[in-house]
Amino acid sequence: MRKLLLAGNWKMNKNVAESVELAQTLVEKLKGITDKDILICPTFTALSEVSKVIKGTNIALGAQNMYFEKNGAFTGEISPDMLKSAGCSHVILGHSERRQIFNETDEMVNKKALLALEEGLIPVVCIGETLEQREAGEALGVVETQLRGSLNNIVGDDILKVIVAYEPVWAIGTGKTATPVEAEEVHAYIRKIFSDIFGSKNAEIIRILYGGSVKPDNSAELMGQKDIDGALIGGAALKAEAFEQIIKVAK
Ligand code: 13P
Repeated sequence: MRKLLLAGNWKMNKNVAESVELAQTLVEKLKGITDKDILICPTFTALSEVSKVIKGTNIALGAQNMYFEKNGAFTGEISPDMLKSAGCSHVILGHSERRQIFNETDEMVNKKALLALEEGLIPVVCIGETLEQREAGEALGVVETQLRGSLNNIVGDDILKVIVAYEPVWAIGTGKTATPVEAEEVHAYIRKIFSDIFGSKNAEIIRILYGGSVKPDNSAELMGQKDIDGALIGGAALKAEAFEQIIKVAK
């Protein structure tokens, strides 16, 4: 049985003080939950302080991005070692906002994933089609290309550390969620492709999260799907009550 993972992507929201306050509230509200994994991903500048707040609790810390080099003259970039030293165990890679606004390619996401694994960070690799691609009947093909490209050359047991997040771009921040049936269709397909590349045993173990307008009132049904193993939550993760509800109703 795969354990559900509920992850909050805070995106470019909340300064250090606001992040600490939200983390403190979450520690209180979510304590005692052990049957699900919980992850929060604040902005870079808040990571260290938030890490102190959640230390020793059931909440893990992730970053929203990193660079694919270990160090050097890369002004403005962040290395995996820096993230680890700030308390991170996870890092989101290839979010559609990174792909669309900052032109990240599968090749870049792949380099990042390989380095994250080498450095001991758990990559949460995001994939998902745009509305145009979905309407053109290309959703599964796009997702397959992104999955294969982003996970290229990952060998051995490392693949078991990877978390995949399926986030249809048209459902992000729009209030328009994929129906549980639509989401499950793509999740099952991702697991099948994963199985083709990495073997059926590994495919049964890895977790595939759904992201895109997950809210307290749709969490239970989405999370109840066979191949949906958790959620990557944007807007609703910025409100402690909503995030708590999404986690509590997820089964
Ligand atoms: P929303 O939950 O705000 O739609 O964002 C989803 C997302 O992009 C999480 O990474």
